[in-house]
Amino acid sequence: MSGEILLSVEDLTLRFGGVVAVNKVSFEVRRGEVFTLIGPNGAGKTTVFNLISRIYVPSAGAISYLGRPLASVAPHGVAALGIARTFQNIELFEHATVLQNLLIGRHVHHRRSLWGELLFAPGVRAAERQTRRKVEEVIDFLDLQHYRDTLVAGLPYGVRKVVELARALATEPKLLLLDEPSSGLNVEETGDMAFWIQDIKNDLGITVLMVEHDMSLVSKVSDRVLAMNQGEVLALGTPAEVQAHAGVIEAYLGSAEDAGSLRRSRA
Ligand SMILES: Nc1ncnc2c1ncn2[C@@H]1O[C@H](COP(=O)(O)OP(=O)(O)OP(=O)(O)O)[C@@H](O)[C@H]1O
Ligand SMILES: [Mg+2]
Repeated sequence: MSGEILLSVEDLTLRFGGVVAVNKVSFEVRRGEVFTLIGPNGAGKTTVFNLISRIYVPSAGAISYLGRPLASVAPHGVAALGIARTFQNIELFEHATVLQNLLIGRHVHHRRSLWGELLFAPGVRAAERQTRRKVEEVIDFLDLQHYRDTLVAGLPYGVRKVVELARALATEPKLLLLDEPSSGLNVEETGDMAFWIQDIKNDLGITVLMVEHDMSLVSKVSDRVLAMNQGEVLALGTPAEVQAHAGVIEAYLGSAEDAGSLRRSRA
């Protein structure tokens, strides 16, 4: 790990009317690490992702990416900077094939002029070849060959989660945001997801910022963990340090299901 700061979040705050969804949250994600946000339901984790994606504009505070303030970047410009994400509820084109979904995902890289498109200029052909090559590479990497030409609507949920990951990877991100990569997956699929995340970090060198509830997955893949509750930061450290933190245990006791997950992984 180089220690270089890829993403910096400073005093980030977002209010929805009377609700402070994110309250003065600060953290830094270093290049090459898996950095995980945990916290009970409603803690503000997805809202942090939506702020980084520029879906929401912060009430206060700042986010910078490679030293550049994200406030100056339009929402559609975030992907072109090298930030890709998956969603808590899978967002794919249901009536397109796996291959088509990945090709659509690549369009963040296309900066073609209309004339270039119409005349199918050499630069356009080269970009098209590069797109095809990258998409096939991602299909191989995530073992999706079997589903390549299948409509997403016909795929089991667990495979769709991998396709969503593939769509994000096809954009060649430097920073990958994963919102609950294991939600809805069974134990075996969650194990596979852990391997994919480790391979993405180790083999592709992509930095991962993840939100996750499954503490065994969190412990397996995370370098550092930030715990949130009610919009605020509770603790930051290694997975073991954060899970042993008194404030984190207390926050999780308010949520029976989440507390069970925390206990199981510490057992
Ligand atoms: N668009 C919105 N309008 C109003 N309130 C919102 C909106 N989005 C989120 N909130 C509120 O902000 C708080 C944080 O929500 P958020 O979705 O970020 O939580 P989370 O940590 O991702 O929870 P979960 O683990 O359930 O996904 C919650 O109180 C939620 O109700
Ligand atoms: Mg969420």
